[in-house]
Amino acid sequence: MFDRTLKIAPSILSADFANFGLECEAIEAEGCDWVHVDVMDGHFVPNLTFGPAMCKAIRPHIKTVMDVHLMIAPVDAYIEAFAEAGADIISAHLEAGPHIHRTLQAIRGAGKKAGLAINPGTGIEDVDYLLDMVDLVCVMTVNPGFGGQKFIHSQVEKVRKLRAMIGDRPIHIEIDGGVTPETAPLVVAAGADVLVAGSAVFKGGSVKNPSPYGANMAAIRASVAGR
Ligand code: DX5
Ligand code: ZN
Repeated sequence: MFDRTLKIAPSILSADFANFGLECEAIEAEGCDWVHVDVMDGHFVPNLTFGPAMCKAIRPHIKTVMDVHLMIAPVDAYIEAFAEAGADIISAHLEAGPHIHRTLQAIRGAGKKAGLAINPGTGIEDVDYLLDMVDLVCVMTVNPGFGGQKFIHSQVEKVRKLRAMIGDRPIHIEIDGGVTPETAPLVVAAGADVLVAGSAVFKGGSVKNPSPYGANMAAIRASVAGR
């Protein structure tokens, strides 16, 4: 069932890479809504993370929603593998190739929710003709590739325009990059409902000491209260 209430999706890019399963359990126990999984290929973005085997391995440790963000090109050949790995949402980048329409069809064809991610330098004109094919638009508020980067403020206006374009359609607006208690209110006021946060959630905590994760998420939620 679609709802536009605020959701926090910690990015496990900022988790302890030796403990992904336990980290997923820890952030869920501390109250996250979704788990965001950043897949990077060292080609579309200048960093490498993990692939479908890792997603499959952590799937049993996730009870909420496994939100897989593919920063890879080409993407189509891997959709089935991420679907089989148990992703609930698969997002592909508009910039990843010439046939994003086909890619989104393939994600839905695999029985998954389809996300469309757009880089900070990409306008939303091209999103218009894809809106009936997506369940989520991910607005990148940093250039994809690394956690801990600075929020790009020009994207707030993009979120506002996108929200107006979406209207009543059941489509989430997800924000990815540089989300903190300082920047979250800006994007929520502009119409976002899913906040990905890596460093702002994981800072100060660990699987042995997970309570900072909860406090960090509470700080983000408090910052947007009433927006
Ligand atoms: C960036 C990734 C993000 C990243 C966010 O390429 O898509 O999900 O981990 O990290 P923070 O919240 O630290 O900016
Ligand atoms: Zn991401």
